Amino acid sequence: GGGPFMISPMAVVRTQVGIIGAGPAGLLLARLLQLEGIDTVVVERRSREYVTERVRAGVLEQGTTELMVEAGTGERMQREGLRHTGIHLAFSGQRHHIDFQELTGRSITVYGQNEVVKDLIDAHLATGRPLHFEAEDVAIAGVDGARPLVRCRVADQELEIHCDFLAGCDGFHGICRASIPPGQWHGYERDYPFAWLGILAQAAPSCDELVYSLHERGFALFSMRSPAVTRLYLQCKVDEAIESWTDDRIWEELEARFQCQDGWRPNRGEILQKGVTPMRSFVAEPMRYGNLFLAGDAAHIVPPTGAKGLNLAVADVRRLSRALAAFYRDGRTDMLDTYSEKCLRRVWKAQRFSWWMTSLLHRSPESSEFDYRRQLAELDYLVSSRAAMTSLAENYVGLPFD
Ligand code: APR
Ligand code: PHB
Repeated sequence: GGGPFMISPMAVVRTQVGIIGAGPAGLLLARLLQLEGIDTVVVERRSREYVTERVRAGVLEQGTTELMVEAGTGERMQREGLRHTGIHLAFSGQRHHIDFQELTGRSITVYGQNEVVKDLIDAHLATGRPLHFEAEDVAIAGVDGARPLVRCRVADQELEIHCDFLAGCDGFHGICRASIPPGQWHGYERDYPFAWLGILAQAAPSCDELVYSLHERGFALFSMRSPAVTRLYLQCKVDEAIESWTDDRIWEELEARFQCQDGWRPNRGEILQKGVTPMRSFVAEPMRYGNLFLAGDAAHIVPPTGAKGLNLAVADVRRLSRALAAFYRDGRTDMLDTYSEKCLRRVWKAQRFSWWMTSLLHRSPESSEFDYRRQLAELDYLVSSRAAMTSLAENYVGLPFD
């Protein structure tokens, strides 16, 4: 106790846009604003190692890669990212190729979300601008008035950041959405009665494109991270006990679910990491309260089947950066005013697509043998109809930003 005359070691700083969260949304927003000459302070609860090592999504839409290049942060991605021109759908023992390039003229890039985060952090730190990792007790206030602020503690120093605007880029479990008064927003939600068990394996990918498989025993997905690392997922129970999944059991289950008449199977290798991902659809409306703007997972979650989560976060911050630039450059508020409505149109289309891919490819404990046969018929139709394949392809490669 320092007594009544102790001076608290509080640092007060001022910035234009305070950004909560250094995931892809917060970091890309900081970068895009920097290019517009707008000042930011980024505050992140976790350590730099945590955000750069945690394995998450891995599929970038062409629009996402183009934006990374435009932002001057795409160099390593262009060198190391794996360009994919389609995917395979497997069911009833057959693999079918969907050729995105031919159907839409566009492609996707496989490059880990944590690699995107690494590249954005490196670019940010090179500018010498503030990015505080391991910020404790992050709190926001005043977003309903003209003086929003962020309070937190960084390396035992109390910090107060006064801003014009706050960007809530703090993910699904963050504090920003939670700080909007009830009654000022609504959450739309759907939980799925299954989850994904994901592994990362030290094994060369045995196919150069992703394989999404529906099998009697459930869904499986073959993906990759590099020419030496395979990423694989299995549909599992929501409360799956990961301890009961030995490495051998995982490989046997994967091989059963990918079994194909062409003999294709993933290469086995040392399992570097295992984890269970829950599946959820969620949208918060509106994505703005006063001077607080939500972006990315803070505002919406999609099940991972359509690979849309990271790409939606990118589309949000692209729009937000343009709206803020129009405000600071020309005093325009119209783009800030339509931010939420315009984001949500794209968000709901991605929700629709993610829900559809998920329902098509999983065996739900709530559905029947009838449903399973209906799913197989839908897949059979899909791979035989150019119209249906084109619909999948144009959603998968990414709908236009505007
Ligand atoms: N204060 C500061 N930072 C916080 C707080 C807080 N109270 N709460 C959370 N954060 C940080 C998290 O530690 C995380 O680094 O906010 C960041 C949010 O990042 P993401 O969860 O990656 O969300 P986002 O940037 O919107 O990216 C969306 O993430 O879930 C995946 O598939 C999804 O790829 C998509 C992407
Ligand atoms: C991944 O590689 O992690 C991945 C790929 C496609 C998905 C989801 C995850 O739909």
